[in-house]
Amino acid sequence: MSEKLEKRLSVNMAGAKKSAIREILKLTQNPEIISFAGGLPAEASFPVADIKICMNEILDEVGTKALQYGTTEGFDVLREELVKHYKSQGVDISIENIMITTASQQGLDLAGKIFINPGDNVIVGLPSYLGGLSAFRSYGGQMVGIRFDENGMDPVALEKKLHELSALDKLPKFIYLIPDFQNPAGITYPESRRIELLKIAEKYDLLVIEDSPYRELRFDGKEQKMLYQLDNSGRVIILGTFSKILAPGFRMGWVIADKEIIDKFVTAKQATDLCTPAILQMAVARYMQKGFLLKNLSNTIDMYREKRDLMLNCFREFMPEGITWTEPEGGLFLFLNLPEYMNAEELFHVAIKNKVAFVIGQVFHCDGSGTNTMRLNFSFPTHEQIREGVKRLADSIKSML
Ligand SMILES: Cc1ncc(COP(=O)(O)O)c(C=O)c1O
Repeated sequence: MSEKLEKRLSVNMAGAKKSAIREILKLTQNPEIISFAGGLPAEASFPVADIKICMNEILDEVGTKALQYGTTEGFDVLREELVKHYKSQGVDISIENIMITTASQQGLDLAGKIFINPGDNVIVGLPSYLGGLSAFRSYGGQMVGIRFDENGMDPVALEKKLHELSALDKLPKFIYLIPDFQNPAGITYPESRRIELLKIAEKYDLLVIEDSPYRELRFDGKEQKMLYQLDNSGRVIILGTFSKILAPGFRMGWVIADKEIIDKFVTAKQATDLCTPAILQMAVARYMQKGFLLKNLSNTIDMYREKRDLMLNCFREFMPEGITWTEPEGGLFLFLNLPEYMNAEELFHVAIKNKVAFVIGQVFHCDGSGTNTMRLNFSFPTHEQIREGVKRLADSIKSML
């Protein structure tokens, strides 16, 4: 970068780095490489014909209105459909609790904009979604990582850290959690853990961001109550998205929170993009009204369950001893642990030579830990690619043992 441009940058931008994942993904562009690295839904899950029907109906019925600006809060019919969707899961909300976003990444960015002053602490998981960390960092947030166990964020470690921060008068503004099929670890928090963490949030009077893009993609096991449902103090903010249950190309999601908090999101969004495209909101509302969402979701879940099972079976067949992995009940990812002495970044270079790719787990750890971990995606690769890719990966690991 030229010295001249560097001088012009804001404090926040000067410290910003390009996403490590994007850089890694560039390496995997080679079509010979089997990539478990991205976080993409399977293209076979995109309901092109149903979307065409909805788009055509909207254009035929309301034409120009669909091409006009919309309100910042979002299209009422879509918000009403979301209210019904949540009510069917036992979450009681009204449309005043919802704002439509230009997908969840915007929700994360707006949360940063609304709550973070430069230097403010934010509690995140070790590991946590990189896009969340980048959004919060771009407002000067300081990530404070809390270790995980098999049930998600460790409440003992969280309590200890908050006690320390409280003594320094440096309590964070919020705790960022992904309680369902976490990206990247594939972990789902059981209800008891959700309750424990909420109690701690209440004790220190902190907001909680419940980022849940994968919640609807459950393959087996018992559905867990949302943190939002378990809390009765208005401190939970849900971020949802159509990216993984319809198509990321819509760039459409939502925020659910107390009306007072939603008002702040509306103000912040106004300055960001005024509104999410009306035509797309109308098409998605129609898609839900026609029952396409639930119908297609059930096919997507079947497809992903098969892929997850296949990947797990291939692990059992090909992986050497000493390698462990999470067995997610849904979502898009699983996490693999190498023996402590092994480094996933070194393995990455060997794996690329063997034409298979993954994401190094360290990038999801704000404190640089997790050097022996890696994230694998099972939704995008084909069955053949999963089988061949796991074989190549296992051979790469064996060559380093
Ligand atoms: C945990 C989490 N939050 C948010 C997002 C952003 O999704 P989108 O902006 O497509 O809704 C992702 C995307 O993978 C994610 O994994």
